[in-house]
Amino acid sequence: MDFADKLIKNRELEKEEYVELFEDYKNPETAEKLSREAVRIRKEYYGDKIYIRGLIEFTNYCKNNCYYCGIRRGNKNAARYRLSRDEIMECCDEGYRLGFRTFVLQGGEDPYYNDQRMAEIVSGIKGKYPDCAITLSIGEKSKESYRLFREAGADRYLLRHETANEEHYRSLHPEEMSLKVRKQCLYDLKELGYQIGAGFMVGSPGQTMEHLAEDFLFLKELNPHMVGIGPFIPHHDTRYKDEPGGSVELTIFLLSVLRIVLPKVLLPATTALGTLDPRGREKGFCAGANVVMPNLSPVSVRKKYELYDNKICTGDEAAECMNCLDRRAKSVGYRIVCDRGDSLVK
Ligand code: 5AD
Ligand code: FES
Repeated sequence: MDFADKLIKNRELEKEEYVELFEDYKNPETAEKLSREAVRIRKEYYGDKIYIRGLIEFTNYCKNNCYYCGIRRGNKNAARYRLSRDEIMECCDEGYRLGFRTFVLQGGEDPYYNDQRMAEIVSGIKGKYPDCAITLSIGEKSKESYRLFREAGADRYLLRHETANEEHYRSLHPEEMSLKVRKQCLYDLKELGYQIGAGFMVGSPGQTMEHLAEDFLFLKELNPHMVGIGPFIPHHDTRYKDEPGGSVELTIFLLSVLRIVLPKVLLPATTALGTLDPRGREKGFCAGANVVMPNLSPVSVRKKYELYDNKICTGDEAAECMNCLDRRAKSVGYRIVCDRGDSLVK
């Protein structure tokens, strides 16, 4: 019995076994075996549904300086913007009309949006659209801040752990950031009753198969409601500008492994995956992904939320993206649905 069979049987592996499994990612037989099982599980729990989340990138100011990211504070070439409360609400209005029942407020760690401003934005949206889920993705905060946002009406929180390995984390981030704090944030959020999303980049500079194995061990322990993974893509204004991008094939492979290890988890086919491969998101759906996060930000600011180069969908109105995604989903036998799409993970 090989490690793919063992994974399918036990739904988890030891670290060294993950490493050997991942090293086999180019083997079509292994990849197919895993994707078949991943799709079987996905259909058992979520049928042919693909959930949509309306992404509102409301600020690209950031006080952090993650070395891989195009909007880190050290990038003097980034054209900065902030959306006003009214502009954010207009994005939600448009999203609601299009059928979105989840809004994701994502931004850099921007001190302008202090706790009070954030809470007001959240409660404003919740008051107007009580049938919608509100997801925040605004980085590391104190447990007290997280509590305040929760009380204001936030339901979910996305915070990728980026890598579960200490040294690797150190190499991707400046001194003042720490993996311990990041993990603590995820546990705090969970305790406060948020549905949480963790995740990492595939092929980030210096990443090894051992690191990825550690990501899986960490995720199994954390048991998040959602896991976002996408290939690393170099940004021209970062120290990693000449590094190779992550592998689409490996990302797809890991999506299948995630679906098997965390059967009920929500798995987005990410924009980064669609950026590196024109059929990347479809490939994601066929490997076990069941979420997409189209952009609801005003077209005038889209290009400025540039975490990496050549990001797709920056010129398209949300309505166009919806039609496009609907076609893409149908082309591989799935369908976009308009409900909140809560995770089945308890
Ligand atoms: N390539 C791919 N993903 C990136 N992110 C940040 N920079 C890049 C990049 N260059 C991801 C990080 C972050 C999420 C919002 O975007 O994982 O958590
Ligand atoms: Fe945006 Fe296809 S999903 S244009």
